[in-house]
Amino acid sequence: MDLLEVMRKRRSIRNYTDEPVKEEDLQKIIQAGLLSESGKAKRPWEFIVVRNKDVLEHLSLCREGGVKMLKEAQCAIAVVGDADMQDVWVEDCSVAMAHMHLMASSLGVGSCWIQGRLRKSEEGTTTEEYVREKLGFPENFKLEAILSLGMPAVKMPAYDLEELPMEKVRVVD
Ligand SMILES: Cc1cc2nc3c(=O)[nH]c(=O)nc-3n(C[C@H](O)[C@H](O)[C@H](O)COP(=O)(O)O)c2cc1C
Repeated sequence: MDLLEVMRKRRSIRNYTDEPVKEEDLQKIIQAGLLSESGKAKRPWEFIVVRNKDVLEHLSLCREGGVKMLKEAQCAIAVVGDADMQDVWVEDCSVAMAHMHLMASSLGVGSCWIQGRLRKSEEGTTTEEYVREKLGFPENFKLEAILSLGMPAVKMPAYDLEELPMEKVRVVD
């Protein structure tokens, strides 16, 4: 399948079956993140992989209102960036998130971006503080987002190239 076709079919999936994500697929998703470009090739990110169901359940309260997909997820990858090492850690972590999400989709694994930065937990702390307390990453590492992963329990329609918002594109001659 060509890359545009993979992108056309990519959707955020928030409902998962009980089927585990295959280890080989998880490794490919992580490799996609590790292959990401980054400013000055600094690679300021770290990926914290969570398969433990109790930890996933705990993380499901990392956001106000709760994050239901983390209760159903078979796995999650928290993406944290070293803010001391890299001024553009947010951009670098976002690229890695997008690559892993797209790779998951291409493998038939459902995934969804859960925003961590600038968000509050169910306990009133920041999402970052809540997640750091459980996953134990150092203060210089900031939480960008969490990618929830699981085998899709829903089928979302692919996008139609004819319906792309072309008004967002301006060509200057
Ligand atoms: C920066 C960013 C933050 C997002 N945060 C969340 C989130 O916290 N919870 C969620 O369910 N989806 C989140 N999403 C997924 C978007 O809601 C989703 O991409 C959008 O609705 C379009 O749907 P699609 O991904 O199926 O095309 C986020 C996506 C991005 C890029």
